[in-house]
Amino acid sequence: MSEPVTGPAVVLVGPMGVGKTTTGMALAERLGTTFRDTDADIVAGAGKPISEIFIDEGEPHFRELERQAVAAAVRDHAGVLALGGGAILDASTRELLSGLPVVFLEMGVAEAVKRVGLDAPRPLLAVNPRQRWRELMAERRPLYTEVSRAVVSTEGRTPEDVAEAVLDAL
Ligand code: S3P
Repeated sequence: MSEPVTGPAVVLVGPMGVGKTTTGMALAERLGTTFRDTDADIVAGAGKPISEIFIDEGEPHFRELERQAVAAAVRDHAGVLALGGGAILDASTRELLSGLPVVFLEMGVAEAVKRVGLDAPRPLLAVNPRQRWRELMAERRPLYTEVSRAVVSTEGRTPEDVAEAVLDAL
């Protein structure tokens, strides 16, 4: 007989650079489980970085790969799961997340620009990063909130502190 499907122990959503991966890894360690990241699944499946998928195939194609990656991970993964920042733009993904222990990780705009500026290239923030960030968050904040049971700020906290706050919040 196959195992019953339980879904992920925790799902982390929130904008790029907020610390979903570092928090997710700390959380998985605390819970004695594994960590999975849908961005990494997409990169492995496509055999190239996300920035190249955007350039070569365009954002709509990336969003379709992302929709499939999230559906597969929600179905198969029982540990901690982090979703790419734009995954919640898809209505079927939001529906899939309903009833799951989803936490929205957030930070302020100054922190965001500082963090994403130092990180890997982010195609969505290439021009006017501050303004683009505000626009993205104006569109996405209601969607992150809609799918989440709790909101946790990562600003000024270590991944271990955030992981503890996530567990407290659930
Ligand atoms: C995106 C966030 C990225 C990645 C892609 C698009 C977005 O993921 O999926 O660059 O639309 O916010 P992270 O949030 O893991 O950086």
